[in-house]
Amino acid sequence: MLTTTFLNKSFENPLVLASGIMGVTAASMKNVIENGAGGVTVKSLSLTPRTGHPNPTQMGTTNYYINAVGLSNPGVEAGVEELKLFKTVCEAPLIGSVFAGTPDEFAAVSERICAAPIDFLEIDVSCPNVSREFGDPFAYSIPAIEMITKKVKAVTNVPVIMKLSPNAWNIVDIAKAAETAGADAITAVNTVSGMAIDVRARRPILHNKQGGISGPALFPIALKCVYDIFQAVKIPIIGTGGVTTGEDALAMIMAGATLIGVGSAIYYGGVEVFKTMTDEMERIMKEEGIKSLDEIRGAAH
Ligand SMILES: Cc1cc2nc3c(=O)[nH]c(=O)nc-3n(C[C@H](O)[C@H](O)[C@H](O)COP(=O)(O)O)c2cc1C
Repeated sequence: MLTTTFLNKSFENPLVLASGIMGVTAASMKNVIENGAGGVTVKSLSLTPRTGHPNPTQMGTTNYYINAVGLSNPGVEAGVEELKLFKTVCEAPLIGSVFAGTPDEFAAVSERICAAPIDFLEIDVSCPNVSREFGDPFAYSIPAIEMITKKVKAVTNVPVIMKLSPNAWNIVDIAKAAETAGADAITAVNTVSGMAIDVRARRPILHNKQGGISGPALFPIALKCVYDIFQAVKIPIIGTGGVTTGEDALAMIMAGATLIGVGSAIYYGGVEVFKTMTDEMERIMKEEGIKSLDEIRGAAH
């Protein structure tokens, strides 16, 4: 009932672990699959290891989650070993993820991650938490998106997914530029910029002061991004941002998503949230007489 084909690859269900949440080691990604995810995205990898920002780096409330982890990761060489290990213990679809500070560096790290048996490669051009180091995210700029998409496509042998930012006022034009430059799919969206202040301490809560908002508060923003992008491009979309229930997931499909990224929902519902969500999707589909997700994709248009 939930089986989904995305760029010629079959997923048991459309829920995939979003990048950066649990997906660093082969063991944690396998755990996510065993708990009902249809696929996983690894935490974004860079050319060299990064420690990220000092603590505190994340915090959650009932309405939102905020983080400025600062893209800590073991670097692409160590990451490739974990990805190889994952594929020896798990057959589920695997989405690689990379980020970099320049277009040429994106090409270099993309080429290297392709030494791992990844099925797709997601390009994180949209992290809002490292602008003091790298400047504004590339996802705000049409020429930058075009250049990075072309450079990455030239050196990779798997489908390329460009991950966009809800902070870009012209996200639809950015998605169109990625498609024209050769992207195979779009992930919409990364976190939206925000902050939290501790009133008694009279200070921002995160060490980085500002961070990226995910979780429930992001859902309606992400839903609109997916809805608008679906009308403008032909390539498939991974709808990501604040999806925490089966009903949210079905709404994302009706907006036009093919796969659904799930990250912060794990903070709210534990790793078993994947099974809870797919159970709820199936229940609603039965109640509504819906036989497949293809039947309702884009139905809200
Ligand atoms: C703690 C944390 C770390 C993240 N790290 C990454 C990352 O390394 N690369 C990336 O593309 N997105 C990263 N994201 C963004 C998520 O992949 C996702 O786009 C965002 O959280 C919205 O989805 P959600 O509301 O389901 O969490 C991170 C999010 C969180 C909360």
